[in-house]
Amino acid sequence: MDTLEAIRTRRSVRRYTGDKIPRADLETIVDAARLAPTGSNKQPWDFIVITDDAMIQQLKVASVWMDKAAAIIAVVMDPSSRWWVEDASAAVENMLLTCTALGYGACWLEGYTLPREEEFKELLGIPKSKRLITLVPVGVPAESPVVEKKKLSDILHWERF
Ligand SMILES: Cc1cc2nc3c(=O)[nH]c(=O)nc-3n(C[C@H](O)[C@H](O)[C@H](O)COP(=O)(O)O)c2cc1C
Repeated sequence: MDTLEAIRTRRSVRRYTGDKIPRADLETIVDAARLAPTGSNKQPWDFIVITDDAMIQQLKVASVWMDKAAAIIAVVMDPSSRWWVEDASAAVENMLLTCTALGYGACWLEGYTLPREEEFKELLGIPKSKRLITLVPVGVPAESPVVEKKKLSDILHWERF
C-alpha cells in the first residue's frame, strides 16, 4: 500500500478479532514512530509494546474495547523537550499509518489515557520524570468504520484565509 492510500483508508479501529500479531510487525510499527520528525531532532521518546494479556486486561480500564487488542503501545515522552507533544503526535500518526499499511487496526487513545496517567505509569514502570501521552491499541480489525470528514473545499484556502 502506498502512503496516500494508507492516509486515505486509515480509520480509528476499536474492535479487534483477538488474533495475535507477529513481533516483527510490531517492531515495524514502532520503527515507523522512531523515524518521525522531532523538534531539534531530540527524539524525546520511548515506546512500550505490551502483548501480555494480563497487562492488557489491566489497561482496558481506559476503554473496555481494548481487551481484544493484540498489543497496546504506550507512548512515553520526555517533557523536557519543548516540542514533546508535537513529536508524540508525529510518532503516533506514523504508527497509525503503518498499522493501516500492514492491514491492522489501531486507535489513538489519549482522551481516556491522560486521566489515568499516574496509575498507568506506575503499572508500566515508567519513570516519574516522563509523560505517558497516549496508548495505541493495535489488532486485527473486526470493524471497518466510516467517518465523515470535512470537505476539502470547506477547509482549503488559497493565498489568504
Ligand atoms: C489527540 C487524540 C485523542 C484521541 N483520544 C481518543 C480516545 O481517548 N478514545 C477514542 O476512542 N478515540 C480517541 N481518538 C480517536 C478519534 O476519536 C478519531 O481520530 C476521530 O473520531 C476521527 O476518526 P478517524 O480516526 O477514524 O478518522 C483520539 C484521537 C486523537 C487525535
